[in-house]
Amino acid sequence: MPAAEPILRVRDLTVRFGRAGVPAVRGVGFDLGAERLGIVGESGSGKSTLGRAVMRLLPASARVEAGTLDFEGEPLLGQSERRMRGLRGGRMSLIMQDPRYSLNPVVTVGAQVAEAARLHGKANPREARERAAAMLERVRIADVRRTMALYPHQISGGMGQRVMIAMMLLARPRLVIADEPTSALDVSVRGDVLKLLDELVREQEAGLILISHDIRMVAAFCQRIIVMYGGRAVEELTRLEDARHPYTRGLIAAMPDPRRPVRRLQTLDRQAIAAAMEDA
Ligand SMILES: Nc1ncnc2c1ncn2[C@@H]1O[C@H](COP(=O)(O)OP(=O)(O)O)[C@@H](O)[C@H]1O
Ligand SMILES: [Mg+2]
Repeated sequence: MPAAEPILRVRDLTVRFGRAGVPAVRGVGFDLGAERLGIVGESGSGKSTLGRAVMRLLPASARVEAGTLDFEGEPLLGQSERRMRGLRGGRMSLIMQDPRYSLNPVVTVGAQVAEAARLHGKANPREARERAAAMLERVRIADVRRTMALYPHQISGGMGQRVMIAMMLLARPRLVIADEPTSALDVSVRGDVLKLLDELVREQEAGLILISHDIRMVAAFCQRIIVMYGGRAVEELTRLEDARHPYTRGLIAAMPDPRRPVRRLQTLDRQAIAAAMEDA
């Protein structure tokens, strides 16, 4: 953790949907520097809600409370929607599972990447297209000219994630939240997309929050992991070997280790988890 002000500072973040019921996120706190932080947990544990709360992208039914929610020292709660839109297009970015929902469906890929180049690089239209093409080449899009003429629904998920990363290389965000960025992709392209994400955040000295249910993938990619269960951060780890919480151990056991195949996947021991939660 750098001594300087963190990129993101979160304290006691709680999110409720509607009036009654259990909060989807309960009292979560962490600092993020120029590092790769993983958020893991089973489906419904509150990972996406946490990510979207930081981006201020939750529906109006969500009530977000926090002691602190600061991005580069600027409070995000109570910020105007106009200011948030400015931040989201530039200093902070969200990568979702299906990139086609993040891209504009009625604008070609080339025009969208060129627009990012124009907005963030003071380029004229011609220069913007050239920079867009160079950036798409850099993220290893095979046939750049042809791809630029396509609409988002005409490209694969893997290509879509590359296009999103190309746009971010132009926008130079300080914070990237990637929510299951590789879950919908073929295994063969997952590694490539993670490698590009790594290049993106290293180059920009940005902070990355990688959200996934795949604790092994996150452990291999991130320097630090926060484990979420029922909206709470139950454990923070730098290595899977240090996992103490029965929930974390269950998550690890439930994810097949490609180097050590098991015959039957273990399921979570809910009783042991509940007991551990009461002790805490
Ligand atoms: N828009 C919403 N309205 C009501 N409940 C929601 C909404 N989004 C998420 N939730 C609830 O919040 C909890 C956490 O969901 P989510 O953050 O999507 O988990 P994860 O990303 O870990 O799978 C779940 O119980 C889910 O049903
Ligand atoms: Mg999710």
